[in-house]
Amino acid sequence: MHIGPFFLQSRFTALHKLIEEVKPNLVVSSGDQTRRAKKKQFIKAKKLLDSLKIQWTAVPGNHDIPMYRVWERFFFPRYKYKKFFLSYTEPNLSYDNLEISGIDTTKSFTKDRGIYRKSSLRRLNQLWKTEKKGLRIVVAHHPPVSPPGFKKIYTTNSQAAIKTMASLGVDLMICGHYHVTYNTTSHQVILHEGEPFPIFAIGTVSCARGRGGEKKSNSCAVIIVKEEKTIEIIVYRWNKNETRFKKWYSLHYKR
Ligand SMILES: [Fe+2]
Repeated sequence: MHIGPFFLQSRFTALHKLIEEVKPNLVVSSGDQTRRAKKKQFIKAKKLLDSLKIQWTAVPGNHDIPMYRVWERFFFPRYKYKKFFLSYTEPNLSYDNLEISGIDTTKSFTKDRGIYRKSSLRRLNQLWKTEKKGLRIVVAHHPPVSPPGFKKIYTTNSQAAIKTMASLGVDLMICGHYHVTYNTTSHQVILHEGEPFPIFAIGTVSCARGRGGEKKSNSCAVIIVKEEKTIEIIVYRWNKNETRFKKWYSLHYKR
């Protein structure tokens, strides 16, 4: 959401309308709730998500770690996130046919890069070593690999993370961070055993700083998980003339 100087209220109002139309079970924010990890920014982000009146969850992004408040950045990087936004950074949700788990990819010793920590992967392994109940979705702010057209960057430990997820039968990974929408597969990161799983990264829903093909644009996505183990991702893009999010394209995966 990037609550702060680049936040666009009109986009959030349009998101509100879209959510009223689609009536999803859950809203997931894939990180960067704020611009500068300030108390008032976290409070506003929480207030806006609560105003949707739908269950929501989130993972932190690099902007949710203080950048310039150095003491806080290195010693209490997630303090304000946990106190004023969400008390945990790696959510787990379980439905009849779906399990969702978040990975906190943020770190203090960087400008904006991310990491899949061994401890996060161990936690995921512990959580999902049991038999699958349905489809499994992982949410992380930093995608394992940067989008096409960007300098090729792998998030630290991305190959280990992909191998862990593949071994646990993950069906979809959803990410954010680059402010541009794209999709790839796990085999683009490492050739692991078994079928590749899709990786989908969404652009920014309400930040004025879209990038790449989404410069001055915004996007969000509706993910539909069906009983017969299919996943449909409908991508919506900001339409300036109609001041709303309009269907852009959709992706279909059979698992
Ligand atoms: Fe980010």
